[in-house]
Amino acid sequence: ERHLLGLKQLEREEIASILDRAAYWESQTSKVTPRLEGKFVANMFFENSTRTRFSFEVAEKRLGAQVLNFSAAASSVEKGESIYDTVRTLESMGIDAGVIRMKPIGLLAELAEKIKVPLINAGDGNNEHPTQALLDLYTMKKTFGEIKGLTVSIIGDILHSRVARSNLWGLQKLGANVQFCAPDNMQAPELAEHAPYVSVEEALQADVVMMLRVQLERHDKGFIRSAEEYREHYGLTVERAARMKPHAVIMHPAPVNRGVEIDDELVEHEKSKIFAQMGNGVPIRMAVIERALS
Ligand code: CP
Repeated sequence: ERHLLGLKQLEREEIASILDRAAYWESQTSKVTPRLEGKFVANMFFENSTRTRFSFEVAEKRLGAQVLNFSAAASSVEKGESIYDTVRTLESMGIDAGVIRMKPIGLLAELAEKIKVPLINAGDGNNEHPTQALLDLYTMKKTFGEIKGLTVSIIGDILHSRVARSNLWGLQKLGANVQFCAPDNMQAPELAEHAPYVSVEEALQADVVMMLRVQLERHDKGFIRSAEEYREHYGLTVERAARMKPHAVIMHPAPVNRGVEIDDELVEHEKSKIFAQMGNGVPIRMAVIERALS
């Protein structure tokens, strides 16, 4: 089984081995290693993406694979073709692995039973985004040396966040303490038994303050009263960031709503790991693609 559906099902040792292999790939000086020469990988994005799609493409090209990019908007999905039929179509053409992002929850597990080539989850609804959490874990490991014992606050739209869920499962397996902070209407009730909800002031005292994007596209109208009000109560403002611990870091999966969940000046602040996270996405995805095809 070389699928990567989520971190909830992944063993601690498997996570550690992906992080180690990413460090190996990061240390390589040559840009392209023909490790996956002759392999075809399809990136199938049924939802938009910049970071995940391009860092998978860079990772695949750095490993010497042939890359096929599929985007739903320019495909027969527009004529009503299903996700299953689309993936089966690409499989029938001989792809060796597929990276997939889509809205429905639960469909990926069904696909993984029917599709023979390995599938890698690039984000499914609000369920999981395992490679994002892996690159977040990798960033924390590089910053602090070890993840065990770290306190990580995840602040914002937990309800709609696949990033929060994958980070929760991954961080807990590696021995970190996870706490959430969110307004009542952005809390995920089913996660309350796994991690406590704390106040903003308490959340600021963590080693890692991970801000989440307010997912305007997943909210019904009226769910968020105003960006200003959100910033005032839950945003990482310059004033709040000044109350963080001296060694603590700011993370965010991006894209960022500057001036809503995080102040503009903090995005490239010395405490911020936001662009480092994006860079770390490449070696992590190299390790994940290699694992799928080995
Ligand atoms: N962090 C992340 O998944 O970004 P994209 O939606 O641009 O891929």
